[in-house]
Amino acid sequence: MARELHDHYFREAKREGYLSRAAYKLIEIDTRKGLLRRGDCVLDCGAAPGSWLQVASKRVGPHGLVVGIDRRPIDHVFELDNVRCVHADLEEVETEELLGYLSDDNTPGPSSAASSGPASGKRFDVILSDMAPDTSGDHTADHFASARLCHAVLDRCGDLLVEGGRLAMKVLEGESYAELLARCRMLFEKVKGFVPKASRHKSTEIYVIAWGFRGRGAAEADLAGRAAVQPPLPPRPRSTGWTT
Ligand SMILES: C[S@@+](CC[C@H](N)C(=O)[O-])C[C@H]1O[C@@H](n2cnc3c(N)ncnc32)[C@H](O)[C@@H]1O
Repeated sequence: MARELHDHYFREAKREGYLSRAAYKLIEIDTRKGLLRRGDCVLDCGAAPGSWLQVASKRVGPHGLVVGIDRRPIDHVFELDNVRCVHADLEEVETEELLGYLSDDNTPGPSSAASSGPASGKRFDVILSDMAPDTSGDHTADHFASARLCHAVLDRCGDLLVEGGRLAMKVLEGESYAELLARCRMLFEKVKGFVPKASRHKSTEIYVIAWGFRGRGAAEADLAGRAAVQPPLPPRPRSTGWTT
C-alpha cells in the first residue's frame, strides 16, 4: 500500500510542486490529445486539491481563465492570477454562477448574470472533469456513481460549453460505458477513450476525450430525448473516500 501511494508520479508531484499526482494525467492527456490552448476559458469539475488547476492555469496562460469547482474547498494560492475556485456541488450549482466568471470583471452571481448568463453566449472553451464518486468498494456501484457524474457534466454542456468546445472527463469503466460514449458522440464530433500512464495499474478509470461540441441545439435535443426515455437518476451512494 505504502509503495503504491508513493509511486513515481507521487514523488514527481512532490518534487515539481504539484498538489497531487493527478497532475500528470492532465499533462499527458493534453500533450497527447491537444485539449488546452493559450487564452482558453476552462471549467474544471472536481478540482480539489487543485493539481489540474495548476496545469491548466499554466497551459492557458495569463490571458486564459480556469474555474475550478469542487464540493471540497480549494485553498491553494496559484502562481498565476487566472484561477477562480467555486466551493459547490456540480449537480447543484447555478449555471449563472459559473458563467459569471466569464464576465469582464470575473465576478460570479446575479450582478454579472446579464453580461454572462446563458443568453449572452459567453461559454467555456473546455470542460474538464476528474470528478470521482465517494467509492463504496463495490465495482458496479462505483461505476454507476461515476457514470452519473459524467452524465451530470453532459447535462450542463449546452449551457456551459462553446460550440466547437472540448471535453475530458473521467469515468470508472463498467457496463454503462458504451452508453456514455454513445451519448458523447451525439454531442461531439469526435470522441475517444484514453488511459494515461499515470492512472494506477489497478484502477478502472478511463478518460473520455471529446472534440467539436455540436452546440446548444444538439444539447437541447439530447436532453429532451433523455427526459422522454430515462427514469430519474437514482439516489447518490454512501461515501467512503477517494484516491487520485
Ligand atoms: C480525484 S479528485 C480530483 C483531483 C483533481 N483533478 C486534482 O488534480 O487535484 C475528485 C474530486 O471530485 C470531487 N467531486 C465529486 N463529486 C463532485 C460533485 N458532484 N461536484 C463537485 N465535485 C465533486 C471530489 O470532492 C474530489 O475532490
